[in-house]
Amino acid sequence: DTAVKSPKSELFTVQSPNVTYTDKEIISKYTYRTTEVNVTDGKYVATPKETLYDFKTERNVGKVGVMLVGLGGNNGTTITAGILANRRNLTWETREGPRAANYYGSVIMGSTVKLGTDAKTQKEINIPLHDMLPMAHPNDLVIGGWDISSLDLAAAADRAKVLEPTLKQLVRKELASIKPLPSIYYPDFIAANQESRADNIVPGSKASSEHVEHIRKDIRDFKATHSLDKVIVLWTANTERYANILSGVNDTSANLLASIESGHAEIAPSTVFAVASILENVPFINGSPQNTFVPGCLALASEKNSFLGGDDFKSGQTKMKSALVDFLINAGIKLTSIASYNHLGNNDGKNLSSQAQFRSKEISKSNVVDDMVEANTVLYKPGEKPDHTVVIKYMPAVGDNKRAMDEYYAEIFLGGHQTIFISNVCEDSLLAAPLIIDLILVAELMTRITWRAGSKEQQNADAKGEWKGFHSVLSVLSYMLKAPVVPEGTPVINSLARQRGCMVNVLRACVGLEVEGDMGLEYKLF
Ligand code: NAI
Repeated sequence: DTAVKSPKSELFTVQSPNVTYTDKEIISKYTYRTTEVNVTDGKYVATPKETLYDFKTERNVGKVGVMLVGLGGNNGTTITAGILANRRNLTWETREGPRAANYYGSVIMGSTVKLGTDAKTQKEINIPLHDMLPMAHPNDLVIGGWDISSLDLAAAADRAKVLEPTLKQLVRKELASIKPLPSIYYPDFIAANQESRADNIVPGSKASSEHVEHIRKDIRDFKATHSLDKVIVLWTANTERYANILSGVNDTSANLLASIESGHAEIAPSTVFAVASILENVPFINGSPQNTFVPGCLALASEKNSFLGGDDFKSGQTKMKSALVDFLINAGIKLTSIASYNHLGNNDGKNLSSQAQFRSKEISKSNVVDDMVEANTVLYKPGEKPDHTVVIKYMPAVGDNKRAMDEYYAEIFLGGHQTIFISNVCEDSLLAAPLIIDLILVAELMTRITWRAGSKEQQNADAKGEWKGFHSVLSVLSYMLKAPVVPEGTPVINSLARQRGCMVNVLRACVGLEVEGDMGLEYKLF
């Protein structure tokens, strides 16, 4: 067990009557300012509104374990090797010279946020996002998990063809010592072309209570073996086909549990993993596009106060799209079509060459501009949308070096046109692996944050009601996800900038800092 416990001293403290530090906790009294709008006869009355909350963050992170479903895949091997390389501070030769381990591409580990303005110089002070609140360090994560393929991670990394050979050599011994746990495999849910790698399987080819119990026991054993304080489970296994939502089958928590027990054919392996995680009270994150979170699964998580996050890592093409479309539409330019072509040659591409699995991806890639379009009532009539098409082709020769080509076609002033072509080439798994880290770090943090309603009169009263967790659906993870699952009845935000703003500002609120704003009055009013 190479994981080390290294509680890092916090980089800053907040000096404010609204923020209290104890040995164990940071408690903030936070005023959340919103605007309530009343609509009458097409006119609006906007009323500023203040809501008071208390937030409490546990400072001790504890020892965190991560169990990946699909550990032997391209993402699973890449993230494991990447953490080993960082933990050991490795450097390796490439044809462009030596390269050192880093966490580039992780918004938490690789980006900064403005803390404030230097009291003496008036310059902005920026700090790593990772330092905003006490967070786990990825180097300390203990990685394990399941795969339907029995290859150890060294052999699986060879199969993935992602890592530089020189790096692979340095971590080969450790990778070879990691063997995925046997997993559950219901052949109907992933492409038939995956069957040949399925040699590490828990008996049974449809959902069962035994499968749920088996996965639950794996989680408990992993926790005990590594003396972990908590575990997070993340699905980075193959994209499954959509499950049909059937009344009486997967529509309520009771029906879902009964359908698992009776072995109903519409229960996907990913849903069995989600249910097992919920019953173990372990956060479960879905990095693939399928509808793992059927209504019965969402209901179960809510009943058990267990966290879910998903769907589908937002790594390359869609991340660009949710930044570019936000820019175009907020610049007042009328986007009229998006044509997105992909070709890739890794096992993900092979699986997606099957129609039912491609359909899951097509759905999750298609709705990602809806919120930005709907918000602009100047450019678009109600219900009007840009044309949007998504094509994915399997091209074995390009391996993990995925190609994404997009054409954005827009209408500009006086009937003119603007056409933007983007060609994006990169190793898919080297983009996705840091997102796995971000999802884990933020989900883990959310297990340590509780809130309660505050009010002016009760500001100093002891009894203000129960502390409770955030909603079981962690929409704060949206920045990392292509098709964010959100609490029922709440808006889905796809805009990359808004997603980042949400995450950063939720963290700031927990240390009693104001929303990050860009007015910069201190640079204008003097
Ligand atoms: P991969 O095909 O290399 O890895 C998936 C692994 O899951 C394989 O080793 C397979 O044997 C295993 N597997 C399949 N069914 C399983 C089950 N029931 N239980 C346990 N293991 C199972 O794929 P890759 O590239 O690692 O991607 C993983 C997932 O992440 C895919 O669904 C993909 O669509 C999704 N994703 C990947 C992105 C990226 O790499 N940039 C971006 C967005 C989503």
